[in-house]
Amino acid sequence: MDTWNPTSWQSADVRQQPTYGDPEAVQAVAARLAVLPPLVTSWEVETLRGQLASAARGERFVLQGGDCAESFAECTSDSITAKLKILLQMSLVLTHSLKKRVTRIGRFAGQYAKPRSADTETRNGETLPSYRGDLVNSLDFTAEARAPDPLNLLRGYQRSALTLNFIRGLIDGGFADLHHPEYWNLDFVNHSRNAAEYQRRVEAIGESLKFMETLAGVDVGQIDRVDFYASHEALHLVYEQAQTRTVPRRDGWYNLSTHLPWVGLRTAYRGSAHIEYARGIRNPLGMKVGTGMKADDIAHLVEVLSPAGEEGRLALIHRCGAERIGEELPPILRAVSATGKPVLWICDPMHGNTKGTREGMKTRAFSDILSELEQAFDLHAANGTILGGVHFELTGEDVTECVGGARGLDEQGLRRAYRSQVDPRLNYEQALEMALLVGRKGSST
Ligand code: PEP
Ligand code: CO
Repeated sequence: MDTWNPTSWQSADVRQQPTYGDPEAVQAVAARLAVLPPLVTSWEVETLRGQLASAARGERFVLQGGDCAESFAECTSDSITAKLKILLQMSLVLTHSLKKRVTRIGRFAGQYAKPRSADTETRNGETLPSYRGDLVNSLDFTAEARAPDPLNLLRGYQRSALTLNFIRGLIDGGFADLHHPEYWNLDFVNHSRNAAEYQRRVEAIGESLKFMETLAGVDVGQIDRVDFYASHEALHLVYEQAQTRTVPRRDGWYNLSTHLPWVGLRTAYRGSAHIEYARGIRNPLGMKVGTGMKADDIAHLVEVLSPAGEEGRLALIHRCGAERIGEELPPILRAVSATGKPVLWICDPMHGNTKGTREGMKTRAFSDILSELEQAFDLHAANGTILGGVHFELTGEDVTECVGGARGLDEQGLRRAYRSQVDPRLNYEQALEMALLVGRKGSST
């Protein structure tokens, strides 16, 4: 007998949750969250499921990207616009080179909770709770900032709503103009040894858009509605549970705080509360897989999350690292294929490639990220599976967090604009260049 309900995760093994000083205050906030309107709708969730099913068959491609951790302070019009702009432009590059429609999924409107390797952090003899994302506490190293505040759950929900509201407004307005290369910032191109190729690609995109618009007699924005879906790591289970609802005329329970919740690597294991929660909701699900997980455990989790084997139900987001993917991915592909359950394969080339600089900053090399992606295309092809999407940590702004790319950013240069509170992100130029190179690889595999 299936005993799932929105609270059944509470009797499983619960990890990565904050310890609140006042549990009753958490329950009071959860009760308020549970009656506020949903952030997304079940029909959007169902549409996304259909698109993920076609991506799994190789008929579409998924571009998922955004901040490692959104912050309350960066819930601004500039930051949101810049993120949409880069995702839109990358998606156009990918559509053009892969000759497939692209589904754009942001890591936004709810990416506020972070898993940590330790519950506490010690500096100069003082021990405080770890920073777990703005949904929980604040980054400053003071007892006050680090104390988990239940009201942050409400603040996170509100900012998610503000973010989605603005995104929906931009989509309905003239935002799709950003399709046109004349709105792109292409200064970096001249710094690359691939300059001529990039130039040709961007010109070809411009020509295709003009051709389509001439044929249809309208702007491309009116021909193809530019949709964005939201995703975040379903980590804070009190928050996720409060947004889990039934809807009229549909069966089952939906998490209406996001279209695509995913289970992170640290909570993807047998008996995990996060797996228990995820298995019962109707949303399509993501699950990170990779280093530290055994292939037969992954296969088991696939059976638990996708017992009916419905297409579009499950995306496995692998993140092994450029050095390990060749060894780690093939056994995972074989074990999952043996389950017979269809899954969408997405490569996250960020989380297996984090390194420390000599000065103790976290960074990732553009070349490692690209190498993991290129290997992923080849490994899927060799194993008879399909790489149906890519997952990036990126921002639309001019930050300096990852090294490499056309401008050859080095460790010294990282200090200029290192803004990430958690993991290093590709900046605008690096992200656009990455899309050009992924497109080149994907179209030749
Ligand atoms: C993340 O996506 O920011 C993250 C923490 O990833 P993972 O669960 O793969 O480590
Ligand atoms: Co991250």
